[in-house]
Amino acid sequence: MKYSRIIGTGRCLPDKVVTNADLEKIVDTTDEWIRSRTGIERRHMAAEGETTCDLAEGAVREAMAAAEIGPDDVDMIVIGSTTPDQVFPNMGCLLQARLGIHGPAAFSLEAACSGFIFALSVADKYVRCGDVKTAVVVGAETLTRIVDWNDRGTCVLFGDGAGAVVIRADDEPGILSTHIHADGAYKDLLYFPSGVSKGFDQLKAGADAVQMRGNEVFKVAVNTLGQIVDETLEANSLGKEDIDWLIPHQANIRMIQATAKKLGMPMERVVLTVQDHGNTSAASVPMALDVAVRDGRIQRGDRLLLEAFGGGFTWGSALVRY
Ligand code: COA
Repeated sequence: MKYSRIIGTGRCLPDKVVTNADLEKIVDTTDEWIRSRTGIERRHMAAEGETTCDLAEGAVREAMAAAEIGPDDVDMIVIGSTTPDQVFPNMGCLLQARLGIHGPAAFSLEAACSGFIFALSVADKYVRCGDVKTAVVVGAETLTRIVDWNDRGTCVLFGDGAGAVVIRADDEPGILSTHIHADGAYKDLLYFPSGVSKGFDQLKAGADAVQMRGNEVFKVAVNTLGQIVDETLEANSLGKEDIDWLIPHQANIRMIQATAKKLGMPMERVVLTVQDHGNTSAASVPMALDVAVRDGRIQRGDRLLLEAFGGGFTWGSALVRY
């Protein structure tokens, strides 16, 4: 039986930091409201001309350095992103060109905030079946580009960034299981209205922005994340007490607290970056993982539960022996 193991992690954040106090100058909001409802204190924002692929490249270079691999070692690149640089070539190909990787499959997939978990699930399957030895998996976004900066209900929530992992085939686990789901019945609760084959004129005019019914999203997310925790533990015949670290999607501190409570986990065992990064969509889980790996909290052998939820709705988890 083959498994994939995480052998390197990395992240990249834009230099520009926007605090809640900065947002008070733009929309009718307060630092107190944003902190108490979301846990967010600041977020990073891509500079003009700085793209999702720029951030992805930074994260991947860090992850490859940590894994001590070079371009010739990479057999596959999978990127979760809803804010790619171009319609095509896909961001995997753009990354290949920057990193000097020639030949292996490289592609991106859209699953909104669950993008990294979906990408990890796909890459893990390829490694497990023996077709791929080493894969680069990325979550990268510049969501601040597609929010309405006059809408206080959404613009305070999002930030930009990228996180990446390198996974490699191993006889020992590794990634124990991944679980991914979607339900399009919820498509109208959280979405971006236009694309290429619909509403292209609005897109070109920059007239569209992320739409969200925050309250309803919140309720479904909390319920669904609770269920995926149960599903993941059951699939591995593990109990709540067997998880060392929860690495949740960083959308909202209250959502994270609800999932931690369901797991009976003290918040000291939950990796939190929402205060510094805001909701970076597909980038949030791999960035949080990288933060806790690099600051030494996560140690080899620890059991990690990664989970995410996003527009679609999409949701997923990964149970990892680090
Ligand atoms: N500053 C100040 N007031 C704000 C505000 C802001 N940035 N945004 C909204 N409000 C106001 C609303 O207008 C409303 O005012 P009203 O009562 O006069 O109408 C009031 O605050 C309450 O709004 P509501 O939407 O009910 O607040 P909430 O407690 O549900 O918190 C969210 C709003 C967005 C923080 C919360 O719903 C949430 O986090 N939802 C999930 C969003 C999410 O994570 N999406 C991504 C999923 S991957």
